[in-house]
Amino acid sequence: MTRQKIVAGNWKMNKTLLEATQLTVELHEALGETSLPPHLQVVLCPPALYLEKIKSLLTLLHADHLAVGAQNCHQAANGAYTGEIAADMIASVGAQYVIIGHSERRAYYAETNDLLRDKTTAVLKAGLRVIFCCGENLDEREANRHTQVVAQQLRESLFDLEAAQWQHIAIAYEPVWAIGTGKTASPDQAQAMHQFIRQLIGEQYGKAVAEQTTLLYGGSCNAANADELFACPDIDGGLIGGASLKAKDFSTIIRAMK
Ligand code: PGA
Repeated sequence: MTRQKIVAGNWKMNKTLLEATQLTVELHEALGETSLPPHLQVVLCPPALYLEKIKSLLTLLHADHLAVGAQNCHQAANGAYTGEIAADMIASVGAQYVIIGHSERRAYYAETNDLLRDKTTAVLKAGLRVIFCCGENLDEREANRHTQVVAQQLRESLFDLEAAQWQHIAIAYEPVWAIGTGKTASPDQAQAMHQFIRQLIGEQYGKAVAEQTTLLYGGSCNAANADELFACPDIDGGLIGGASLKAKDFSTIIRAMK
């Protein structure tokens, strides 16, 4: 069985609507006619405000290999939560993915493992796929606690799920010290953590689930280092921040995923 590969671009809070549409068109042109491997899914995660627009633009361009996803959602189905967006709303504009638990949301919006479990449940209920982020900070890495931290994040947020729900979950390992810092985890460090995560899933859900789960690396992944990261056996793609804001760089990263 070939595991699904994913290269996702997390645009974070960047780009006006015009810039976002330009980037989408440029990316489509940069990818050109060359077909991508059938098991590779490219996901664009613009600010939620533009999801519908980018989705219809992709339809117009016949860019069927590109999906869109949101960067966050609320855990409730609907209700009096001023300023928030529910998973059903994201689904209703044609998005297919939601990033949950990004380290910036954990750090700046105090999102806990418990809350992220509820958000994950909400996303799955809406029929969407989850890109669940985990990763340790620099202190935790230096104290050699990185595997422990990641294991706790996954156990507390995801390990109540049914085995069948795992076909809708991808995990992005993003060491916090590598995000937006230009400091990438070495392929050895990244592969070791990915292998650990797959083993952990295997212990909880069995080998078949572990082997089918897509594991992404994120954190200063760019056009120059994507090749060696993606060549690692347990790395099935990337969650790309800064480098996804430039069509040329992002298309190079997408092509690095064979
Ligand atoms: P970066 O961000 O590629 O800019 O380091 C990755 C992410 O935050 O998902």
